[in-house]
Amino acid sequence: MRAPLAASTATLPQAPGFPRLLSALPSPDSVVDLEAHLTHWGDLPLHSARSGLLDELDASGLRGHGGAWFPVGTKWRALARGSRRTVVVANGSEGEPASRKDELLLTHTPHLVLDGLSLAAATLNASRVVLYVPARQVDGLHRVVHDRRRSGIDRVEIEVIEAPDAYLSGQESAVVHALNDGPAIPTFIGLRSIRDHGVRGRPTLVQNVETLAHVAMISRYGGLWFRSLGTQDSPGTMLLTVTGRWSEPMVVEAPLGAAFRDLLTLTPQDADRYWGALLGGYGGGWVSIPDLLDCRLSEESARQLHSSLGAGVVVLLPRTHCPLAESARVVRYMQRQGAGQCGPCIHGLADLAAHLEGLAFNPASFRRHVPPILELCNLIDGRGACRHPDGVTRFVRSALVVFRDEVEKHLRHGPCAAIKAPALLPCPTHDGQDR
Ligand SMILES: Cc1cc2nc3c(=O)[nH]c(=O)nc-3n(C[C@H](O)[C@H](O)[C@H](O)COP(=O)(O)O)c2cc1C
Ligand code: SF4
Repeated sequence: MRAPLAASTATLPQAPGFPRLLSALPSPDSVVDLEAHLTHWGDLPLHSARSGLLDELDASGLRGHGGAWFPVGTKWRALARGSRRTVVVANGSEGEPASRKDELLLTHTPHLVLDGLSLAAATLNASRVVLYVPARQVDGLHRVVHDRRRSGIDRVEIEVIEAPDAYLSGQESAVVHALNDGPAIPTFIGLRSIRDHGVRGRPTLVQNVETLAHVAMISRYGGLWFRSLGTQDSPGTMLLTVTGRWSEPMVVEAPLGAAFRDLLTLTPQDADRYWGALLGGYGGGWVSIPDLLDCRLSEESARQLHSSLGAGVVVLLPRTHCPLAESARVVRYMQRQGAGQCGPCIHGLADLAAHLEGLAFNPASFRRHVPPILELCNLIDGRGACRHPDGVTRFVRSALVVFRDEVEKHLRHGPCAAIKAPALLPCPTHDGQDR
């Protein structure tokens, strides 16, 4: 089940020119139609896209918001250098179950994303332009694209194509595979070859929808304006999906570099209310609350905690839930989401899931101690054709470190009563239900 969606910047100190992405939304449940969008943001400067946008993107320091944080200017320049017509894809598949920020953008302020897509198409001389989104968003976005076509905004036709509801369907090579009429699973080609040889063999850009929304603003206000919020290495703002802090998951916009303690209004006493926090999603990692209090919102800071900002997922895990049960369910979900092509995914993740389930639900039968789990992680690391298994091992390692006291308690005294609590972390099945 998907929780109701709310957008907010309310917990943050109001900086000048902030919020950005969410500034056109008068209320969390409003939808910014084309007229309201153009009134708020002004016309789309498509005419200057080919000449000046690449310089502005370089100046902005914008990085991708789909999880890999790769510099956008560098990626676009690599494609702009070639003479062949390109394919440009807005990746709105949002396979990460605890993330809702792409859905919020596409549902409530979709023209910002489509502006960015149109700019990418113009800058990179695209002959095919695709918006790749989950089935539940296809009809609504068809209408949005139609409105724009009637108004003559986009110079190219934008196709809206369904992304399968699965964790891996948004991985870059899986997107290309799906658009080549294959299953949406990763293929054994590297990033460079997608840029040179992607959809139907053509140079292809796959860009997250939030990244494209930032591009839409940079095209209007410039790279220096973009840098007026955030830090030198992590400029601008980002959307976060926060679960466990308020009664429902919320999407919040925050300036990069902000302190998590301010962003989530956390105090040192909150260390007693929460076991820890998951940063970056199921391919990210758990961090302790004291570490989170000191952490700033940037990929570099998250990496220092052996985690990642990923696509902006933050889950605070209340002490009413068992951290080992939550972790075990996620590892089983991730194992089921593996594409079944590589040994580490097929066997390694299945063994890891079984170990974690033993630790959480049946520690008496779990005769082996923690070291074999770490050895298994070492065996899996770096051996898949994509980074899916590496994300799972990072998640598992972080759970064993942050929840080491609970691991010890489970091994000594058996499972805690909290294993019966309903799952907090969503693990959807293919029919859209939570397991
Ligand atoms: C396992 C896996 C799943 C991914 N899922 C998504 C996704 O759902 N949406 C997305 O935009 N990027 C996803 N990515 C990242 C994409 O591969 C790619 O880096 C991204 O779409 C590029 O856009 P960006 O540079 O704007 O982030 C995933 C990556 C991995 C390794
Ligand atoms: S590592 Fe797993 S998800 Fe990645 S390509 Fe191999 S089987 Fe597929």
